[in-house]
Amino acid sequence: MGYSTLRGRSLLSLRDVSPDEIIELLDRAADTKKRAAHGERVPVLAGRNIALIFLKPSCRTRVSFVVAATQSGAHPEIFGREDIRFGVKESVRDIARVFGRVFDGVMFRGFEHATIAEFARYAGVPVWNGLCDEYHPTQILADLLTLRENFGRLEGLPVTYVGDGRNNVACTLAIAAAKLGLDLRILTPEPLQPALESIAELSAGAESPHASITVTASPHRALADSAAVYGDVWVSMGEEEQTRQRIDLLRDLKVTPESMAATGRADTIYLHCLPAFHDLDTETARTHPDILEVHDDVFEGPRSRVFDQSENRMHTAKALMQLTIAG
Ligand code: CP
Ligand code: NVA
Repeated sequence: MGYSTLRGRSLLSLRDVSPDEIIELLDRAADTKKRAAHGERVPVLAGRNIALIFLKPSCRTRVSFVVAATQSGAHPEIFGREDIRFGVKESVRDIARVFGRVFDGVMFRGFEHATIAEFARYAGVPVWNGLCDEYHPTQILADLLTLRENFGRLEGLPVTYVGDGRNNVACTLAIAAAKLGLDLRILTPEPLQPALESIAELSAGAESPHASITVTASPHRALADSAAVYGDVWVSMGEEEQTRQRIDLLRDLKVTPESMAATGRADTIYLHCLPAFHDLDTETARTHPDILEVHDDVFEGPRSRVFDQSENRMHTAKALMQLTIAG
């Protein structure tokens, strides 16, 4: 058996990988998940060292990569915003070359995609994008695994994303749709619609004949027959000053039991990358009680799969690190 074509590669965006390679990642994740359930550990990364860089806060990405690295036999080391001050006293290029000499792989959560791409170019070891302003590929791998677990297929599967249509999660879902043939509907108000050229370009270059990407402000059009309704916060990290404006744009698209019923299917699941505003148990929600993007009855309801998604972050992170470092 040869090495995976993913060996030595970075994942800066899902554009970097082929449909077959995404399926290989999902298959490996499903396999390690099954093994982990039996207490089995596969230490294929024994003796390796992984760096995790967080220029924005994180809960899920951090715990996923730490546990995935440790269970694979590697040592994870975390760097926060104050540890590495890119561009303040040292350039991205120089820091990347230092990390590339001592680490076997680097997870990078930052702001502009260009910074992560520059880091990867100079590091020379696999770099995984743990979220940037434009993309969130390690999240979408977990979401694809969750969809496959629930429906057994991805091709032609109708999925509705509801919220800011230009954010990192929406953009990455659109790339996944073009690669794997999802029937993706992005339900968002006109001011938050992604650039039509980028959607047209993705559709034209789709690698699956089943791929469909629809951008619409019509709940009826977006939700009819949908197998999954996918939410995200209305205000992404770094955009907090736009909070009032976003609430005003998105309040009518809050996901409610009625939105779920509007799919006309009994098996529709609810997904959310988390963190989510679904009740008033947070300081932000108490300050802005109308910021809740989903009704608590949906979030806590029997069709919610949000914590499966969170768990799947860990299994997909494991697959990603194992296949890109060890092959
Ligand atoms: N979904 C996600 O990336 O969560 P964190 O921001 O907590 O890592
Ligand atoms: N769009 C969100 C995703 C959080 C996981 C953000 O960037 O804050």
